[in-house]
Amino acid sequence: MKILVVGSGGREHALVWKIAQSPLVKKIYCAPGNPGIAQLAQCVPVAAEDINGLLALARQEQIDLTVVGPEMPLTLGLADAFAAAGLAVFGPTAAAAAIEGSKKLAKDIMQKYGIPTARYATFTDYQAARRYIVEQSSPCVVKADGLAAGKGVIVARTVEQALEAVDLIMRDRAFGRAGDVVVVEELLQGQEASVLAFTDGESVVPMLPAQDHKQVFDGDEGPNTGGMGAYAPAPLVDEHMLRKVQQTILQPTVRALAAEGRPYKGVLYAGLMLTPDGPKVLEFNARFGDPEAQPVLALLRSDLVEIMLSVVQGRLAGQTVQWHTGAAVCVVLASGGYPGSYPKGVPISGLADVPPDVLVFHAGTALQDGQLVTAGGRVLGVTARADNIAAAIERAYQGVEKISFAGMHYRRDIGRKALN
Ligand code: AMP
Ligand code: GLY
Repeated sequence: MKILVVGSGGREHALVWKIAQSPLVKKIYCAPGNPGIAQLAQCVPVAAEDINGLLALARQEQIDLTVVGPEMPLTLGLADAFAAAGLAVFGPTAAAAAIEGSKKLAKDIMQKYGIPTARYATFTDYQAARRYIVEQSSPCVVKADGLAAGKGVIVARTVEQALEAVDLIMRDRAFGRAGDVVVVEELLQGQEASVLAFTDGESVVPMLPAQDHKQVFDGDEGPNTGGMGAYAPAPLVDEHMLRKVQQTILQPTVRALAAEGRPYKGVLYAGLMLTPDGPKVLEFNARFGDPEAQPVLALLRSDLVEIMLSVVQGRLAGQTVQWHTGAAVCVVLASGGYPGSYPKGVPISGLADVPPDVLVFHAGTALQDGQLVTAGGRVLGVTARADNIAAAIERAYQGVEKISFAGMHYRRDIGRKALN
């Protein structure tokens, strides 16, 4: 088979790495890819959002299966366009991916079908949002409805902070049209976890639960990022909890989406708060998480391409999905300054000294005159699998120690929560 992977980050490198191990695969293309991916796939300079360009590429190269990494092309209708052209694609249609693309839609569906989530209200009117916040007079979370590259969520401990958030989103239009609608929801307390699942629109097969590290500094301090590291399996989601997530969240959501005329195929990602009242949904994503994909795919034993085909063809029920025992950890190496502004084109050294069993997934890198340089906020994801979480942490950081670039920043406590 010929496979096309869409995207250019650490998640896509992990996808390509795993897909490359499938005996079903003859050749992998990646659009646009990155220098790490280029070691395993033919990278083609077509942007992930260029649906027509991707369609032309898939036709020209006679791609058998297209796998979509990021959310943007999904919400733009990549899966719809490919299906209309008779091309197989792994990823939900625009109508189904709206579960990520519109936070209001996600909340409305959860409310209608009794899927546990924070209490909320939605607003298109600036003054109405302000009045509600003043009336409620309690800590809350203010969210821009649309896609905002992970930045449109503001946790407000005070009424003043919540009002500032509404100003930012609705008055200053900091996230453009993503802020046409605002969701104000109750602030939930608890530990966070990510449970991703494969689904073909009926069957739901959860992956190993993972935990992300969203804040930029150790001890969950500082501003939110796209994710500074992740590990799996997350011990706080034990078998009992995972069954509960499956029965009260994943399965009902897939059924609800089908009932709403938005049948969902692909990876459904539930960002959860494990509250004293049970697991509640913080957000849904329509794709693999980044960096969660790196440790989760490092632990997948089964052939990913077989699983994806069974999803596309609607026969996931008959598919076995097996996992390695042990644990995996991914430590993200970021550019100094991220998630604020940061330099690019900084030379990276030491990759050749990383032990061969440690995986280095490229997230934001480029080649400049043959030299590997930084090209994004998150630069590399150093990922190790071992017999247990402590050993995986140690091994990942042994890899990290070998790599350097000017201004390199990373968290030193990835996975530590799993040890307590
Ligand atoms: P989201 O993009 O919706 O996952 O939000 C980003 C982060 O904001 C989450 O990972 C949580 O840390 C936090 N968050 C979002 N919604 C809530 C909520 N209702 N209660 C507490 N924290 C939240
Ligand atoms: N790591 C969070 C996300 O992929 O949305």
